[in-house]
Amino acid sequence: KQQDSTMMIEAHELLKKFYHHLLVNTKEGEHALDYLLNRGFSMEEIEKFEIGFALDSWDFASKFLVQRGFKQEMMEKAGLIIKKESDGSYFDRFRNRIMFPIWDHQGKTIAFSGRVLETNTREPKYLNSPETIIFNKSKTLYNFHNARPFMRKNEQVVLFEGFMDVISANRADIPYSIATMGTSLTEEQAKMIRRNVESVTICYDGDSAGIEATVRAAAILKDIGCYVKVASMPEGLDPDDYVKKYGPEHFKGDVIGASLTLMAFKMRYFRKGKNLQDEGEKIKYIQLVLNEIGKLDNAVEKDHYLRTLSNEFSISLDALKEQHEQINKSLQNKKDNDDRNRNNIPRKPLLA
Ligand code: GTP
Ligand code: MN
Ligand code: MN
Ligand code: MN
Ligand code: MN
Repeated sequence: KQQDSTMMIEAHELLKKFYHHLLVNTKEGEHALDYLLNRGFSMEEIEKFEIGFALDSWDFASKFLVQRGFKQEMMEKAGLIIKKESDGSYFDRFRNRIMFPIWDHQGKTIAFSGRVLETNTREPKYLNSPETIIFNKSKTLYNFHNARPFMRKNEQVVLFEGFMDVISANRADIPYSIATMGTSLTEEQAKMIRRNVESVTICYDGDSAGIEATVRAAAILKDIGCYVKVASMPEGLDPDDYVKKYGPEHFKGDVIGASLTLMAFKMRYFRKGKNLQDEGEKIKYIQLVLNEIGKLDNAVEKDHYLRTLSNEFSISLDALKEQHEQINKSLQNKKDNDDRNRNNIPRKPLLA
């Protein structure tokens, strides 16, 4: 098994170099290289992130690996090639895609993500390696091995949605940048982060999916003892778009530099689309914020945000505190009920 892992990683390393060569040195890779340069990539970035190109062919990777002595059965288990049910032959998983190597925490290549050159509805924009004995998506963070020393030195990390965002952030002089693998942040990933830093800035896409994912990731990170900030994007832009549109300096200063506390971010979100001159909407807004304040476990923080609300809406602090106590009580009741219900549920045997 250990031997299998070693072989699989070796295959990834070799293929990565070959994909890279195809991108930067061959006629076949020219249009892919043009695509990247047009998107604002420099040659240095293409080198640093070891980006490559998989030919528009059904079997070049398969042949390449066989020529170097790798068994097809094992390359199939490594996720690099796929077995055809009909005749048992093999074909390449990644075809005509820009290839991003995925590294483990030591910088070993354990998977790939391939992007199409032109997005259409027939094929997924990004195609990732499947889970294998060397690649566990929920324990992998893109660029973690490069970012780690900078995370420690700067005592912070910025968490993005996509690889493209991480690469653009590097251009903007933010080398402590990482991303999940196109999935929600997992507890394992949060632990990897917390072992190195306490302060995490979440910088997801400026669409509703990004905002919802921010709230979910923030909850996981807070639970594990991180201090969370949010750098929010203008609607419809992602960090990579922003860097391209306004320039890398502005990204660092105006987006990352203007990060909000999690509560301030939520307050701004609750406010969106509401007319706070309207009594009803104002009360609704205050309720939402009080609910969030109720979830805080730090008394100083609670007091701070209650005062902020009080000042902003000229409501007496006493009235807010009373309302807050009521919400707390009902939250506690709900929790007691949940606990009671949970304890009453007869435990099912693990294997029924
Ligand atoms: P560009 O369009 O190249 O700028 O990519 P992006 O980074 O902006 O991608 P997007 O915001 O659409 O998605 C964020 C992340 O989700 C990507 O980095 C991928 O990891 C993942 N993702 C996006 N599209 C797909 C897909 O079609 N399939 C899979 N498996 N993952 C995807
Ligand atoms: Mn090179
Ligand atoms: Mn997105
Ligand atoms: Mn995006
Ligand atoms: Mn993008």
